[in-house]
Amino acid sequence: MRLKAHDPRTKEIMRDLKMSVPTSTILWGRSGSEFSCVAADHVASLLARKPEAVIALPTGQTPLGLYAELVTRAAGKQLSLAQARFFNLDDYLGLSVGHPLSYARFLREHFLIPAGVAEEHIRLLRGDAVGIEAECGDYEAAIEAAGGLDLAILGLGTNGHIGFNEPGSDWSGRTHVVSLSEETRATHVAQTQGKFAIPEYGITVGISTILAAREILLLVAGRGKARALAAFRGGIPDPDWPVTALLTHPNLTVLAAAELQPAAVANVIAP
Ligand code: GLP
Repeated sequence: MRLKAHDPRTKEIMRDLKMSVPTSTILWGRSGSEFSCVAADHVASLLARKPEAVIALPTGQTPLGLYAELVTRAAGKQLSLAQARFFNLDDYLGLSVGHPLSYARFLREHFLIPAGVAEEHIRLLRGDAVGIEAECGDYEAAIEAAGGLDLAILGLGTNGHIGFNEPGSDWSGRTHVVSLSEETRATHVAQTQGKFAIPEYGITVGISTILAAREILLLVAGRGKARALAAFRGGIPDPDWPVTALLTHPNLTVLAAAELQPAAVANVIAP
């Protein structure tokens, strides 16, 4: 069944979907700048309560506005990142930190360096570590030694992945190596205009690592995320949609772009 946005039944279905999301409210960013500001407000409010907060960062196009906004606010002394400590969620396996595709490089370029975060407050996954199993264990130990994650900021994959936890991932998993799905690799080939060979494997914090964060902020933008967001809004935990693991988290905020509002994507998500 395909429903148009103006079909009266669409409204009814969407109302049902909304009611079935038990643990979180979706905030809709009306514009790109509002999306970034609301996300930055969220981080700023945590830092006001806890300046030494431990935060896990996502990579991708979605958080770029947030990073720019945080850099601007830090430069204008509206917030201080001086005591905060940063981890990341994931990276490709086998790439050096200097590689153009490296998520560590991306985060340094787009956020950590311009924000002036001190090196001793940064611990990013080493996708090219020689002993990768040891790296996974060390990473979990480093998060624990920092007192655990206060906030995990997440992006969303088109197939519902969070970090690089692909459909079918073990929800009790901690940091581990993962075989990337064809869909994920194809999306990344398109994003890089085919300029780079996309690695077959990634390294990611596990779903259990994410769920252990005291607070989660899920950022969702791009029409390609419509099906994954609809699965989340369906409110039923489903291992085929890793994002639905977040339904069980007691302190989850979802910020989604206006382009994903139910009426705007009804024709994509209708069965
Ligand atoms: C990659 C990353 C994810 C990220 C996702 C969304 O697959 N592994 O951590 O959330 O991309 O990226 P974008 O924000 O560019 O859509």
